[in-house]
Amino acid sequence: MHKKSIELFNKAIADELYAVHQYMYFHFLCDDQGYDLLAGLFKKTAIDEMLHVETLAERILFLKGEVEMKVGGEVQKIKDVAKMLEHSANMEHDSARDYNLWANECSANADSISKQIFESLVADEERHFDQYDTELDNLKKFGDGYLALQSIERSKKLNVGRPAE
Ligand SMILES: [Fe+2]
Ligand SMILES: [Fe+2]
Repeated sequence: MHKKSIELFNKAIADELYAVHQYMYFHFLCDDQGYDLLAGLFKKTAIDEMLHVETLAERILFLKGEVEMKVGGEVQKIKDVAKMLEHSANMEHDSARDYNLWANECSANADSISKQIFESLVADEERHFDQYDTELDNLKKFGDGYLALQSIERSKKLNVGRPAE
């Protein structure tokens, strides 16, 4: 039953798993350079996407389908922070567009709970898009100073409580 919904959920899981990998890659790189705010945003978003996988997998199993767990793409080795944010914003934009379409497909197949699941994911992906877009705006507005400030904040935190030499 609901074969089409199961197929769409497995496609969504592949996209979500790719997002988990890509965002964790960006998290590692930002963390390494001391960009705490961005490192935290990428990690938190990766965890949200992992929870999306869980929601999708639970619905597949409820529908008596197979959870494929394929990863939808290779991690892009992007090192430039503006390009990381652009790539991430595009991913969120595409997910929101696909899930809107897939919600409609589920609805057309008289599967209203699956439709609601896709709609709830659209809300999360639009929020993710907005967060990446805001950080991209900040980076454009404040330039490299925006990144330098994050590194300085990290150094300040690390030095708190250390006795002066
Ligand atoms: Fe997601
Ligand atoms: Fe997302």
